[in-house]
Amino acid sequence: MHSKTVYPTFRFGGELRVPGDKSVSQRIAMLAALAKGTSEVHGFLRGEDAMSTLGAMCSLGASAQFVGDVLKITGTGGKFKEPANPLDMGNSGTGTRLLAGLLAGQKMTVVMTGDASLSRRPMGRIKTPLELMGAHLELTGEKGTLPLTIHGSPLNGIRYELPMASAQVKSCVLLAGLFADGKTTVVEPRPTRDHTEKLFQTLDIPIHIDGREISLQGFGQNGPQVTASKLTVPGDFSSAAFWIAAVAARPGAELIVRGVGLNSRRTALLDVLKRMGALIEVEFTETQGDPIGTVFVRGASLRGTEIGGDEIPNLIDELPMLAVVGALANGATVIRDASELRVKESDRIAVTAAHLREFGVEVEEHADGMTVYGPAGLHAPQKPLASHGDHRITMSMALLATFADAPVKLEQVECVATSYPDFWKHLEQLGGKVE
Ligand code: S3P
Repeated sequence: MHSKTVYPTFRFGGELRVPGDKSVSQRIAMLAALAKGTSEVHGFLRGEDAMSTLGAMCSLGASAQFVGDVLKITGTGGKFKEPANPLDMGNSGTGTRLLAGLLAGQKMTVVMTGDASLSRRPMGRIKTPLELMGAHLELTGEKGTLPLTIHGSPLNGIRYELPMASAQVKSCVLLAGLFADGKTTVVEPRPTRDHTEKLFQTLDIPIHIDGREISLQGFGQNGPQVTASKLTVPGDFSSAAFWIAAVAARPGAELIVRGVGLNSRRTALLDVLKRMGALIEVEFTETQGDPIGTVFVRGASLRGTEIGGDEIPNLIDELPMLAVVGALANGATVIRDASELRVKESDRIAVTAAHLREFGVEVEEHADGMTVYGPAGLHAPQKPLASHGDHRITMSMALLATFADAPVKLEQVECVATSYPDFWKHLEQLGGKVE
Protein backbone atom coordinates (compact mmCIF):
# COMPACT_ATOMS: atom_id res chain seq x y z
CA MET A 1 0.00 0.00 0.00
CA HIS A 2 1.51 3.33 -1.09
CA SER A 3 1.02 6.64 0.62
CA LYS A 4 1.97 10.24 -0.24
CA THR A 5 2.30 13.37 1.84
CA VAL A 6 1.22 16.55 0.10
CA TYR A 7 2.54 19.90 1.40
CA PRO A 8 0.80 23.28 1.43
CA THR A 9 1.70 25.34 -1.63
CA PHE A 10 1.65 29.08 -2.16
CA ARG A 11 2.84 29.26 -5.75
CA PHE A 12 0.98 26.95 -8.08
CA GLY A 13 0.48 26.84 -11.84
CA GLY A 14 2.32 26.60 -15.15
CA GLU A 15 1.78 24.79 -18.43
CA LEU A 16 1.19 21.14 -19.22
CA ARG A 17 -0.38 18.46 -21.39
CA VAL A 18 -2.54 15.80 -19.80
CA PRO A 19 -2.59 12.10 -20.78
CA GLY A 20 -5.03 10.65 -23.31
CA ASP A 21 -8.75 10.46 -22.63
CA LYS A 22 -9.74 7.32 -20.74
CA SER A 23 -13.21 6.98 -22.27
CA VAL A 24 -11.95 7.49 -25.82
CA SER A 25 -8.92 5.19 -25.40
CA GLN A 26 -11.10 2.31 -24.23
CA ARG A 27 -13.65 2.72 -27.01
CA ILE A 28 -10.83 2.84 -29.58
CA ALA A 29 -9.29 -0.34 -28.12
CA MET A 30 -12.60 -2.15 -28.64
CA LEU A 31 -13.43 -0.85 -32.10
CA ALA A 32 -9.88 -1.23 -33.44
CA ALA A 33 -10.01 -4.84 -32.20
CA LEU A 34 -13.26 -5.30 -34.08
CA ALA A 35 -11.82 -3.77 -37.27
CA LYS A 36 -9.94 -5.56 -40.04
CA GLY A 37 -6.33 -4.48 -40.39
CA THR A 38 -3.96 -2.45 -38.25
CA SER A 39 -5.13 0.80 -36.70
CA GLU A 40 -2.64 3.48 -35.62
CA VAL A 41 -3.63 5.23 -32.43
CA HIS A 42 -1.96 8.45 -31.27
CA GLY A 43 -2.22 9.53 -27.64
CA PHE A 44 -3.64 6.28 -26.24
CA LEU A 45 -3.77 6.47 -22.42
CA ARG A 46 -1.18 4.21 -20.78
CA GLY A 47 -3.26 4.11 -17.60
CA GLU A 48 -4.49 0.93 -15.96
CA ASP A 49 -8.13 1.10 -17.14
CA ALA A 50 -7.21 1.56 -20.78
CA MET A 51 -4.51 -1.12 -20.53
CA SER A 52 -6.98 -3.60 -18.93
CA THR A 53 -9.40 -3.05 -21.78
CA LEU A 54 -6.63 -3.37 -24.37
CA GLY A 55 -5.44 -6.56 -22.63
CA ALA A 56 -8.96 -7.98 -22.79
CA MET A 57 -9.14 -7.24 -26.54
CA CYS A 58 -5.84 -9.07 -27.02
CA SER A 59 -7.24 -12.08 -25.12
CA LEU A 60 -10.11 -11.97 -27.65
CA GLY A 61 -7.72 -12.25 -30.59
CA ALA A 62 -6.49 -8.73 -31.36
CA SER A 63 -2.82 -7.83 -31.05
CA ALA A 64 -1.34 -4.54 -29.88
CA GLN A 65 2.08 -2.96 -29.76
CA PHE A 66 3.41 0.45 -28.83
CA VAL A 67 5.89 1.80 -31.36
CA GLY A 68 7.17 4.89 -29.60
CA ASP A 69 4.06 6.85 -28.70
CA VAL A 70 1.92 5.21 -31.36
CA LEU A 71 -0.21 2.19 -30.47
CA LYS A 72 -0.72 -0.25 -33.32
CA ILE A 73 -3.77 -2.48 -32.88
CA THR A 74 -4.35 -5.32 -35.32
CA GLY A 75 -8.01 -6.23 -35.25
CA THR A 76 -9.91 -9.50 -35.58
CA GLY A 77 -12.11 -8.42 -38.48
CA GLY A 78 -15.02 -9.28 -36.19
CA LYS A 79 -13.94 -12.89 -35.56
CA PHE A 80 -13.20 -12.83 -31.85
CA LYS A 81 -11.64 -15.93 -30.30
CA GLU A 82 -12.98 -17.37 -27.06
CA PRO A 83 -10.51 -16.41 -24.32
CA ALA A 84 -8.87 -19.23 -22.40
CA ASN A 85 -9.21 -17.42 -19.05
CA PRO A 86 -11.55 -14.90 -17.42
CA LEU A 87 -10.96 -11.34 -18.66
CA ASP A 88 -9.57 -9.29 -15.76
CA MET A 89 -11.07 -5.83 -16.21
CA GLY A 90 -9.20 -4.35 -13.25
CA ASN A 91 -10.93 -1.14 -12.09
CA SER A 92 -12.61 -0.36 -15.39
CA GLY A 93 -16.39 0.10 -15.34
CA THR A 94 -16.31 1.44 -18.90
CA GLY A 95 -14.30 -1.54 -20.16
CA THR A 96 -16.61 -4.02 -18.45
CA ARG A 97 -19.94 -2.52 -19.42
CA LEU A 98 -19.06 -1.69 -23.03
CA LEU A 99 -17.30 -4.97 -23.68
CA ALA A 100 -20.27 -6.90 -22.27
CA GLY A 101 -22.34 -5.26 -25.01
CA LEU A 102 -19.82 -6.07 -27.71
CA LEU A 103 -19.63 -9.72 -26.59
CA ALA A 104 -23.32 -10.40 -25.87
CA GLY A 105 -23.97 -11.49 -29.47
CA GLN A 106 -20.72 -13.44 -30.12
CA LYS A 107 -20.76 -17.24 -30.43
CA MET A 108 -18.72 -17.89 -27.29
CA THR A 109 -18.74 -17.83 -23.51
CA VAL A 110 -16.69 -15.18 -21.72
CA VAL A 111 -16.16 -14.53 -18.01
CA MET A 112 -15.28 -11.03 -16.74
CA THR A 113 -13.83 -10.22 -13.32
CA GLY A 114 -12.52 -7.05 -11.68
CA ASP A 115 -10.84 -5.57 -8.62
CA ALA A 116 -12.57 -5.02 -5.25
CA SER A 117 -14.03 -1.61 -6.24
CA LEU A 118 -15.33 -2.79 -9.64
CA SER A 119 -16.74 -5.93 -7.99
CA ARG A 120 -19.02 -3.73 -5.86
CA ARG A 121 -20.46 -1.76 -8.79
CA PRO A 122 -23.95 -2.46 -10.20
CA MET A 123 -24.03 -4.54 -13.38
CA GLY A 124 -27.78 -5.24 -13.40
CA ARG A 125 -28.03 -2.02 -15.42
CA ILE A 126 -26.45 -3.74 -18.43
CA LYS A 127 -27.93 -7.22 -17.82
CA THR A 128 -31.50 -5.87 -18.12
CA PRO A 129 -31.28 -4.35 -21.64
CA LEU A 130 -28.96 -7.07 -22.95
CA GLU A 131 -31.41 -9.75 -21.85
CA LEU A 132 -34.25 -7.86 -23.53
CA MET A 133 -32.14 -8.24 -26.69
CA GLY A 134 -31.94 -12.01 -26.14
CA ALA A 135 -28.55 -12.26 -24.41
CA HIS A 136 -27.73 -14.67 -21.57
CA LEU A 137 -25.76 -13.14 -18.71
CA GLU A 138 -25.00 -14.47 -15.25
CA LEU A 139 -23.85 -12.17 -12.47
CA THR A 140 -22.49 -14.40 -9.77
CA GLY A 141 -21.39 -11.69 -7.32
CA GLU A 142 -23.52 -11.20 -4.21
CA LYS A 143 -25.56 -8.18 -5.32
CA GLY A 144 -25.92 -8.29 -9.09
CA THR A 145 -22.19 -7.69 -9.33
CA LEU A 146 -19.12 -9.26 -11.00
CA PRO A 147 -18.01 -11.93 -11.88
CA LEU A 148 -20.05 -11.84 -15.07
CA THR A 149 -20.46 -14.77 -17.46
CA ILE A 150 -21.72 -13.96 -20.95
CA HIS A 151 -23.14 -16.85 -22.99
CA GLY A 152 -23.21 -15.26 -26.42
CA SER A 153 -26.51 -15.66 -28.26
CA PRO A 154 -28.34 -14.25 -31.29
CA LEU A 155 -29.71 -10.79 -30.49
CA ASN A 156 -32.65 -8.73 -31.63
CA GLY A 157 -32.76 -4.93 -31.72
CA ILE A 158 -34.74 -3.11 -29.03
CA ARG A 159 -35.95 0.35 -28.16
CA TYR A 160 -34.58 1.05 -24.69
CA GLU A 161 -35.32 4.01 -22.46
CA LEU A 162 -32.37 4.28 -20.12
CA PRO A 163 -33.50 4.38 -16.48
CA MET A 164 -30.41 6.46 -15.58
CA ALA A 165 -28.22 8.92 -17.51
CA SER A 166 -25.30 6.60 -18.29
CA ALA A 167 -22.99 6.74 -21.30
CA GLN A 168 -21.72 3.31 -20.34
CA VAL A 169 -25.17 1.69 -20.52
CA LYS A 170 -26.03 3.61 -23.70
CA SER A 171 -22.78 2.45 -25.32
CA CYS A 172 -23.25 -1.13 -24.13
CA VAL A 173 -26.66 -1.35 -25.84
CA LEU A 174 -25.38 0.33 -29.03
CA LEU A 175 -22.42 -2.06 -29.28
CA ALA A 176 -24.72 -5.05 -28.76
CA GLY A 177 -27.07 -3.53 -31.35
CA LEU A 178 -24.33 -3.80 -33.99
CA PHE A 179 -24.57 -7.61 -33.71
CA ALA A 180 -28.38 -7.75 -33.49
CA ASP A 181 -31.07 -8.30 -36.10
CA GLY A 182 -33.13 -5.16 -36.69
CA LYS A 183 -33.00 -1.68 -35.29
CA THR A 184 -31.74 -0.67 -31.84
CA THR A 185 -32.75 2.65 -30.31
CA VAL A 186 -31.54 4.06 -27.02
CA VAL A 187 -33.34 6.99 -25.40
CA GLU A 188 -31.40 8.99 -22.82
CA PRO A 189 -33.07 10.79 -19.91
CA ARG A 190 -30.33 13.45 -20.11
CA PRO A 191 -27.55 13.86 -22.69
CA THR A 192 -24.40 11.93 -21.72
CA ARG A 193 -20.92 11.79 -23.26
CA ASP A 194 -21.17 10.79 -26.91
CA HIS A 195 -17.72 9.35 -27.67
CA THR A 196 -19.20 6.04 -28.86
CA GLU A 197 -21.48 7.78 -31.34
CA LYS A 198 -18.62 10.01 -32.55
CA LEU A 199 -16.31 7.04 -33.03
CA PHE A 200 -18.98 5.14 -34.96
CA GLN A 201 -19.23 8.16 -37.28
CA THR A 202 -15.44 8.33 -37.67
CA LEU A 203 -15.35 4.63 -38.56
CA ASP A 204 -18.30 4.89 -41.00
CA ILE A 205 -20.63 2.78 -38.87
CA PRO A 206 -24.08 4.21 -39.65
CA ILE A 207 -25.83 5.75 -36.64
CA HIS A 208 -28.76 8.13 -36.42
CA ILE A 209 -28.94 10.77 -33.69
CA ASP A 210 -32.16 12.63 -33.06
CA GLY A 211 -31.90 14.63 -29.84
CA ARG A 212 -31.83 12.13 -26.98
CA GLU A 213 -32.67 9.15 -29.27
CA ILE A 214 -29.79 7.25 -30.85
CA SER A 215 -30.53 4.48 -33.36
CA LEU A 216 -28.64 2.05 -35.51
CA GLN A 217 -29.51 -0.80 -37.84
CA GLY A 218 -28.00 -4.10 -36.67
CA PHE A 219 -25.73 -6.21 -38.90
CA GLY A 220 -26.78 -9.57 -37.41
CA GLN A 221 -24.47 -12.07 -35.76
CA ASN A 222 -21.48 -11.38 -38.06
CA GLY A 223 -21.51 -7.70 -37.10
CA PRO A 224 -20.35 -4.72 -39.16
CA GLN A 225 -17.27 -4.60 -41.35
CA VAL A 226 -15.02 -1.97 -39.86
CA THR A 227 -11.82 -0.84 -41.53
CA ALA A 228 -8.67 -0.04 -39.56
CA SER A 229 -7.79 3.63 -39.44
CA LYS A 230 -5.57 6.31 -37.97
CA LEU A 231 -7.08 7.67 -34.77
CA THR A 232 -6.12 10.36 -32.25
CA VAL A 233 -7.02 10.38 -28.57
CA PRO A 234 -7.39 13.92 -27.16
CA GLY A 235 -5.99 14.85 -23.75
CA ASP A 236 -8.40 13.81 -21.00
CA PHE A 237 -10.54 16.76 -19.91
CA SER A 238 -11.31 14.92 -16.65
CA SER A 239 -7.57 14.80 -15.86
CA ALA A 240 -7.10 18.46 -16.83
CA ALA A 241 -10.07 19.29 -14.60
CA PHE A 242 -8.04 18.87 -11.38
CA TRP A 243 -5.54 21.53 -12.41
CA ILE A 244 -8.11 23.84 -14.01
CA ALA A 245 -10.26 23.83 -10.86
CA ALA A 246 -7.36 24.15 -8.41
CA VAL A 247 -5.83 27.10 -10.30
CA ALA A 248 -9.24 28.77 -10.87
CA ALA A 249 -9.75 28.89 -7.09
CA ARG A 250 -6.28 30.30 -6.29
CA PRO A 251 -6.03 34.07 -6.85
CA GLY A 252 -2.75 34.93 -8.58
CA ALA A 253 -2.21 31.46 -10.10
CA GLU A 254 -2.08 30.86 -13.87
CA LEU A 255 -2.35 27.72 -15.97
CA ILE A 256 -2.28 26.65 -19.61
CA VAL A 257 -3.41 23.13 -20.58
CA ARG A 258 -2.76 22.17 -24.20
CA GLY A 259 -4.11 19.37 -26.39
CA VAL A 260 -7.14 18.73 -24.21
CA GLY A 261 -10.41 17.21 -25.46
CA LEU A 262 -13.21 19.79 -25.46
CA ASN A 263 -16.22 17.62 -26.36
CA SER A 264 -19.18 19.71 -25.21
CA ARG A 265 -20.60 16.71 -23.32
CA ARG A 266 -17.53 16.72 -21.10
CA THR A 267 -16.78 20.35 -20.31
CA ALA A 268 -19.68 21.53 -18.11
CA LEU A 269 -17.06 22.08 -15.37
CA LEU A 270 -15.89 25.16 -17.28
CA ASP A 271 -19.41 26.63 -17.28
CA VAL A 272 -19.80 25.99 -13.55
CA LEU A 273 -16.40 27.48 -12.70
CA LYS A 274 -17.17 30.57 -14.80
CA ARG A 275 -20.47 30.93 -12.93
CA MET A 276 -18.45 30.85 -9.73
CA GLY A 277 -16.34 33.77 -11.01
CA ALA A 278 -13.43 31.88 -12.60
CA LEU A 279 -11.34 33.47 -15.35
CA ILE A 280 -11.16 30.84 -18.08
CA GLU A 281 -10.61 31.06 -21.82
CA VAL A 282 -10.70 28.29 -24.38
CA GLU A 283 -9.08 28.12 -27.79
CA PHE A 284 -10.09 25.33 -30.19
CA THR A 285 -7.13 24.11 -32.24
CA GLU A 286 -8.25 21.01 -34.15
CA THR A 287 -11.02 18.41 -34.45
CA GLN A 288 -10.47 14.67 -34.77
CA GLY A 289 -13.87 13.26 -33.85
CA ASP A 290 -13.73 15.43 -30.73
CA PRO A 291 -12.71 19.08 -30.69
CA ILE A 292 -9.28 19.61 -29.12
CA GLY A 293 -7.82 22.86 -27.79
CA THR A 294 -6.08 24.89 -25.11
CA VAL A 295 -7.55 26.02 -21.79
CA PHE A 296 -6.19 29.19 -20.13
CA VAL A 297 -7.00 29.77 -16.46
CA ARG A 298 -6.27 32.66 -14.10
CA GLY A 299 -7.03 32.24 -10.41
CA ALA A 300 -9.73 34.34 -8.76
CA SER A 301 -11.80 34.52 -5.63
CA LEU A 302 -14.83 32.30 -6.32
CA ARG A 303 -18.41 32.23 -5.05
CA GLY A 304 -20.70 29.23 -4.42
CA THR A 305 -23.22 28.02 -7.01
CA GLU A 306 -25.90 25.39 -7.65
CA ILE A 307 -25.11 22.44 -9.88
CA GLY A 308 -27.80 20.00 -11.07
CA GLY A 309 -30.03 18.81 -13.91
CA ASP A 310 -28.61 18.31 -17.38
CA GLU A 311 -25.23 19.62 -16.28
CA ILE A 312 -24.60 16.58 -14.08
CA PRO A 313 -23.75 13.88 -16.67
CA ASN A 314 -21.42 16.36 -18.39
CA LEU A 315 -19.30 16.86 -15.28
CA ILE A 316 -20.05 13.64 -13.41
CA ASP A 317 -16.38 12.70 -12.91
CA GLU A 318 -15.48 16.25 -11.84
CA LEU A 319 -17.91 16.45 -8.91
CA PRO A 320 -15.45 15.44 -6.13
CA MET A 321 -13.12 18.21 -7.37
CA LEU A 322 -16.03 20.67 -7.61
CA ALA A 323 -16.86 19.90 -3.99
CA VAL A 324 -13.23 20.80 -3.19
CA VAL A 325 -13.70 24.10 -5.08
CA GLY A 326 -16.89 24.63 -3.04
CA ALA A 327 -14.80 24.52 0.14
CA LEU A 328 -12.61 27.32 -1.26
CA ALA A 329 -15.44 29.51 -2.60
CA ASN A 330 -17.54 32.07 -0.73
CA GLY A 331 -20.98 30.78 0.31
CA ALA A 332 -22.79 27.51 -0.36
CA THR A 333 -22.09 25.21 -3.31
CA VAL A 334 -25.07 22.88 -3.81
CA ILE A 335 -24.77 19.67 -5.86
CA ARG A 336 -28.09 17.93 -6.73
CA ASP A 337 -29.33 15.18 -9.13
CA ALA A 338 -26.05 13.30 -8.75
CA SER A 339 -27.09 10.06 -7.02
CA GLU A 340 -25.03 8.20 -9.67
CA LEU A 341 -22.00 9.33 -7.67
CA ARG A 342 -22.91 6.74 -5.05
CA VAL A 343 -22.11 3.88 -7.48
CA LYS A 344 -18.82 5.11 -8.92
CA GLU A 345 -15.39 3.70 -7.99
CA SER A 346 -16.47 4.54 -4.41
CA ASP A 347 -19.58 6.21 -2.94
CA ARG A 348 -18.23 9.61 -3.97
CA ILE A 349 -20.88 11.55 -2.02
CA ALA A 350 -20.15 9.84 1.30
CA VAL A 351 -16.37 9.71 0.84
CA THR A 352 -16.00 13.31 -0.40
CA ALA A 353 -18.22 14.66 2.40
CA ALA A 354 -16.33 12.66 5.07
CA HIS A 355 -12.92 13.78 3.76
CA LEU A 356 -13.94 17.45 3.50
CA ARG A 357 -15.11 17.30 7.13
CA GLU A 358 -11.68 15.96 8.12
CA PHE A 359 -10.28 19.25 6.76
CA GLY A 360 -12.78 21.19 8.91
CA VAL A 361 -15.18 22.00 6.05
CA GLU A 362 -18.92 22.14 6.80
CA VAL A 363 -20.77 19.76 4.47
CA GLU A 364 -24.37 18.52 4.34
CA GLU A 365 -24.83 15.22 2.59
CA HIS A 366 -27.97 14.67 0.45
CA ALA A 367 -29.21 11.43 -1.12
CA ASP A 368 -28.35 12.91 -4.54
CA GLY A 369 -25.48 15.27 -3.74
CA MET A 370 -24.15 17.60 -1.07
CA THR A 371 -23.94 21.21 0.05
CA VAL A 372 -20.46 22.51 0.81
CA TYR A 373 -20.02 25.71 2.80
CA GLY A 374 -16.93 27.79 2.11
CA PRO A 375 -14.53 29.24 2.55
CA ALA A 376 -13.16 27.07 5.32
CA GLY A 377 -9.87 27.54 7.16
CA LEU A 378 -8.47 24.25 5.94
CA HIS A 379 -6.79 22.25 8.69
CA ALA A 380 -4.69 19.22 7.79
CA PRO A 381 -6.64 16.10 8.86
CA GLN A 382 -5.37 14.38 12.01
CA LYS A 383 -5.34 10.94 10.38
CA PRO A 384 -4.32 9.79 6.88
CA LEU A 385 -7.09 9.95 4.26
CA ALA A 386 -8.04 6.64 2.61
CA SER A 387 -8.61 6.52 -1.15
CA HIS A 388 -11.27 3.76 -1.03
CA GLY A 389 -9.60 2.54 -4.22
CA ASP A 390 -10.90 5.65 -6.03
CA HIS A 391 -8.46 7.59 -8.25
CA ARG A 392 -10.58 10.74 -8.46
CA ILE A 393 -11.01 10.95 -4.68
CA THR A 394 -7.23 10.71 -4.22
CA MET A 395 -6.46 13.40 -6.81
CA SER A 396 -9.17 15.77 -5.49
CA MET A 397 -7.89 15.44 -1.93
CA ALA A 398 -4.27 15.91 -3.04
CA LEU A 399 -5.27 19.27 -4.52
CA LEU A 400 -7.27 20.27 -1.46
CA ALA A 401 -4.16 19.43 0.58
CA THR A 402 -2.17 22.08 -1.30
CA PHE A 403 -4.51 24.67 0.33
CA ALA A 404 -4.26 23.22 3.90
CA ASP A 405 -2.29 24.63 6.84
CA ALA A 406 0.04 21.63 7.24
CA PRO A 407 1.12 18.51 5.29
CA VAL A 408 -1.61 15.93 4.55
CA LYS A 409 -1.05 12.19 4.29
CA LEU A 410 -3.01 10.24 1.68
CA GLU A 411 -3.14 6.45 1.75
CA GLN A 412 -3.70 3.76 -0.95
CA VAL A 413 -2.71 6.23 -3.64
CA GLU A 414 -1.71 3.62 -6.24
CA CYS A 415 -5.27 3.85 -7.66
CA VAL A 416 -4.26 7.12 -9.37
CA ALA A 417 -2.63 4.97 -12.09
CA THR A 418 -6.15 3.99 -13.20
CA SER A 419 -6.49 7.21 -15.20
CA TYR A 420 -3.43 9.41 -14.57
CA PRO A 421 -0.10 7.65 -13.89
CA ASP A 422 1.82 10.98 -14.17
CA PHE A 423 -0.40 12.80 -11.69
CA TRP A 424 2.23 13.18 -8.93
CA LYS A 425 4.88 14.24 -11.43
CA HIS A 426 2.54 16.88 -12.84
CA LEU A 427 1.57 18.08 -9.35
CA GLU A 428 5.24 18.73 -8.66
CA GLN A 429 5.75 20.27 -12.10
CA LEU A 430 3.06 22.85 -11.24
CA GLY A 431 4.71 23.71 -7.93
CA GLY A 432 3.30 21.15 -5.49
CA LYS A 433 5.56 19.40 -3.00
CA VAL A 434 4.96 15.67 -2.56
CA GLU A 435 6.85 13.05 -0.57
C1 S3P B 1 -17.87 6.86 -18.79
C2 S3P B 1 -19.11 7.31 -18.43
C3 S3P B 1 -19.42 7.79 -17.08
C4 S3P B 1 -18.17 8.18 -16.32
C5 S3P B 1 -17.09 7.15 -16.43
C6 S3P B 1 -16.72 6.91 -17.88
C7 S3P B 1 -17.69 6.33 -20.15
O1 S3P B 1 -20.06 6.76 -16.38
O2 S3P B 1 -18.46 8.41 -14.95
O3 S3P B 1 -15.93 7.58 -15.73
O4 S3P B 1 -16.53 6.13 -20.58
O5 S3P B 1 -18.70 6.11 -20.83
P1 S3P B 1 -21.66 6.46 -16.54
O6 S3P B 1 -21.93 6.47 -17.97
O7 S3P B 1 -21.92 5.15 -15.89
O8 S3P B 1 -22.31 7.60 -15.80
